[in-house]
Amino acid sequence: MRLSLRFVLPLLLALGAFAWAAVPLVDAWMTRWYLRDLDTRSTFVAKAVQEPLDDLLSSGSSTRISGYFNRLTDDERIYAVGLCTGRNAAVIGSNAFPAEIKCSDLASAFSKERTIATPHGPLHVSIRSTPVESVPGATVILVHDMAFLASRTEESRRYLFYFFLALSASVALITVVIAQISWRGWVAGLRALLHGEGILRTSAKATAPELKPIERDVSALLRDLERVYRPFDERQQRWTQETLRATLRGELRGNHIIVVANREPYIHVRTPDGIRIQHPASGLVTALEPVMRACSGTWIAHGSGSADRETVDRDDRVDVPPENPTYRVRRIWLTAEEEAGYYAGFANEGLWPLCHNAYVRPNFRKTDWDYYRLVNARFADAVVHEANGDDPVVLVQDYHFALLPRMIRERRPKATVITFWHIPWPNPEAFAICPWRSELLHGLLGSSILGFHTQFHCNNFLDTVDRLVEARVDRETFTVSHGGEDTVVHRYPISIEWPPAALAATPSIPESREAVRVRLGLPRDHKLGVGIERLDYTKGIIERFRAVQRLLELDPKWVGNFTFVQIAAPSRSSIESYRGYNERVHAVAKEINAQFAGAARPPIILLPTHHEPEAVYEYHRAADLCFVSSLHDGMNLVAKEFIAARDDEQGVLILSQFAGASRELPEALIVNPYDADQCAVALRIALAMPVDEQRDRMRLMRNIIREFNVYRWAGCMLLDAATMQQRRRFEADNGSKAMLVAG
Ligand code: G6P
Repeated sequence: MRLSLRFVLPLLLALGAFAWAAVPLVDAWMTRWYLRDLDTRSTFVAKAVQEPLDDLLSSGSSTRISGYFNRLTDDERIYAVGLCTGRNAAVIGSNAFPAEIKCSDLASAFSKERTIATPHGPLHVSIRSTPVESVPGATVILVHDMAFLASRTEESRRYLFYFFLALSASVALITVVIAQISWRGWVAGLRALLHGEGILRTSAKATAPELKPIERDVSALLRDLERVYRPFDERQQRWTQETLRATLRGELRGNHIIVVANREPYIHVRTPDGIRIQHPASGLVTALEPVMRACSGTWIAHGSGSADRETVDRDDRVDVPPENPTYRVRRIWLTAEEEAGYYAGFANEGLWPLCHNAYVRPNFRKTDWDYYRLVNARFADAVVHEANGDDPVVLVQDYHFALLPRMIRERRPKATVITFWHIPWPNPEAFAICPWRSELLHGLLGSSILGFHTQFHCNNFLDTVDRLVEARVDRETFTVSHGGEDTVVHRYPISIEWPPAALAATPSIPESREAVRVRLGLPRDHKLGVGIERLDYTKGIIERFRAVQRLLELDPKWVGNFTFVQIAAPSRSSIESYRGYNERVHAVAKEINAQFAGAARPPIILLPTHHEPEAVYEYHRAADLCFVSSLHDGMNLVAKEFIAARDDEQGVLILSQFAGASRELPEALIVNPYDADQCAVALRIALAMPVDEQRDRMRLMRNIIREFNVYRWAGCMLLDAATMQQRRRFEADNGSKAMLVAG
């Protein structure tokens, strides 16, 4: 209260003083305004009476003239009207005409206007000559009552008083409210500082309910950062193949690692020249293969190559990498129907579009679901078969195996199951359209750890569980308790090996630039952009082409001087939505090239074939820019590969804001792929970017990927799994004693 008065009293005094100074000013202003009004009226009246007066004067009857003037004074503001026909004549006036006004005085005492005092009150006199034909020099005298002015001024003062009163009250009220709020906030902030609380640490009691979700996310992020940095800071180590191997030996007692992924890392294909090995275009394989080279163990996958059966041993195993085997692939055979139902149907026509915002409708069919369950069970058999002991560490990969974690848990309760979901996780409303949503969640909650690329997807998963399953969701520890088992949900942003193995076999940057341009029939100094991925509707390939088209329309100097080469590996071509997309990509490329048919070089070169990793790296090294325009992407490792390829610290990355990688790589030119004009501007900026700026950006991004490489990704998950195992063992050994003490 005292505080309020301290603010309000001076304010009221100031407003009062202002009002006091304003009143005389308003009075003077009102008088001037009123008199100007009267004079204008007088001029009008004088003109209006001219004709009737002419008639009346020619009749010679002053009584009729007075009568006429009396009628004029019916107007409440005209007090009297008079007429002087000559200097010595008597005034012919209305009844109330003041006797003190005489025709002889007009020239001297009254120039044109004057205010006189009379017993009746102040009167304003206006004199107007009126050119009447019969009496030249006749003058009309109009007398106005000034009492009207007094009443008007009084009214204005009253209005002014109320206006200032209302103004003071409103200003005082607003001032008090603001003063109270800022004073409290300031005092609370000061107290928090004095108590040593950080800016982000407020007590739970002090957090407003609407800020709770933000507080939760910030705490999770801090915990996450702490967890990611802890192993690095404590050991001052950079994650490499060796540190990962050592972690496995030390923390996980050399446990045999089992990876389950649908796609195998080495595909044996029959060609006219004999059996050849193909490395699939898969971000998952790019990331996991180096991890397995470091960890050894078994990778269980669908044997999809045409020569796969010919290259396995009696137990369907093959040691890889072929040139220097360090781990083995165990192949699972699927019939054409099983592959169509489980892989093409449920996984790629159902779950894939369900989890990506690319506006392709998911299709769910009961027959596909049946195959999905059957194939998951087949892989569970293989896990049990491949495991050395009863507590294996199993890394389950991706949306092909949502049911597998529970199936493993049921058969090997002591297993540590780390599941990683490589694609986005949708919000609960979107996920709920799946007819088998509960079964999928129940399956995934068989995992000990469930990983996503971003915190956002972890949050979406917890929200989904909260909404659709009977489970306890702890948002402090990001743990879900379901059927007596705990699943920890964490963010582990995936990455690539550093340095990438394929880079060693790739020519130098100048050689790559030269070789690629010669291959494509482009001049040496021709500017080149690249896009490299599977031909998938989530990748935004058409949006990328439209951006190139806009660039050439907006800035024709690039027509014939810039070419975008798109490598699009054929993918999932048994699915209708992929076949349709393939056709549209080809049609748009053709349309744009036709639009600029006069150019010396085509704007777009589409290479719709599979490229091995060395060839991919060569294109990355040859390009001036790489454009990743995914409409939705869990992470996107192409962006990271481009950065890893550029040991010359040159080249510009244009990256979609909807790819998980954009969170880690803010030095890329971040774009919205749906905005063709914005993307065209990014292309233009990239093409004109000075060498120094390219180096600064590239250096920062390379440092990030060098540190946050795939060994750290796997290492963090395995360390978390090790902690979990140790805790479980401790509980098994000491559980009863601990309970006794507690009891
Ligand atoms: C994505 C998925 C992977 C998959 C890859 C290639 O990256 O997350 O699981 O391997 O696409 O797709 P494909 O169907 O050819 O294996």
